[in-house]
Amino acid sequence: MLAGQLSSESIQRYYRLALALADEGGQVLTHFWGNLSDVRDKQIAGDLVTEADKESEKKILAFLRKEEPSHGILAEESGAHKSHESEFLWVIDPLDGTVNYAHQFPFFAVSIGLLYQGTPIVGVVYNPIHQEKFHGFLGGGAYLNNHKIFVSKVNSLNKSLLTTGFPYDRRETKENNYAEFCRLTDLTLGVRRPGAAALDLAYVACGRCDGYWERGIHPWDIAAGVLLVKEAGGKVSAYDGGDLDLFSGKILATNGLIHDKLGKELMACTSII
Ligand code: IPD
Repeated sequence: MLAGQLSSESIQRYYRLALALADEGGQVLTHFWGNLSDVRDKQIAGDLVTEADKESEKKILAFLRKEEPSHGILAEESGAHKSHESEFLWVIDPLDGTVNYAHQFPFFAVSIGLLYQGTPIVGVVYNPIHQEKFHGFLGGGAYLNNHKIFVSKVNSLNKSLLTTGFPYDRRETKENNYAEFCRLTDLTLGVRRPGAAALDLAYVACGRCDGYWERGIHPWDIAAGVLLVKEAGGKVSAYDGGDLDLFSGKILATNGLIHDKLGKELMACTSII
């Protein structure tokens, strides 16, 4: 068992560190909230970066390097650092939901995940405006602030509320998720597109939503949330039910009870494309 290879003291230490890193980022996001002067497109128009993303990442990385200088890091704005030299990889989104943030739409988060030998062992997703911190560690359960959280018990698609997202290159690719969105909108209570994948996963973990899927997603958007869904009793996988590869760009996450049904519908759309 993977967790058994690490002492519980080490896991607890990394967990505390992840919580502190999320606070670092959260302070920056609170500071710049409603007060941005630098909002730019990255390579693709509509994929925004602001001074809040950059400053949040700067603070988080400085803190992390002081505490764990040998660990690998993969962060949204600055990419990979020492990621091939260590069994530990911190996967960080300093601001997930940048488009929302830039529009003062209060659905965004700092996302801090830690992988050990490729497996998520710690996850923190923090929305400082809602004062909601979702957190957990391997084998320790998942929490929203001080309360233990669990996935929902909904077991049919027609009673499910789902979330998803669309890739920034959606205008140029057929893999834009539109067919999947239409199909699942017809089959469920509804599909929301909230705009921050880390929180979409946290919402599955706490039972506010029953399932989430996305294509064109990055590891920093999902590394922490995946741990939360699993620790809350849910399931994460590829669309076909196979093992999730965090770097594959696709994810299916549910309460477990609707997993196969939702996966089957997504696979049917994928085969049309
Ligand atoms: C984005 C959000 C969005 C998802 C995109 C992500 P960012 O992250 O998570 O919900 O649909 O695929 O890239 O760019 O705001 O950090």
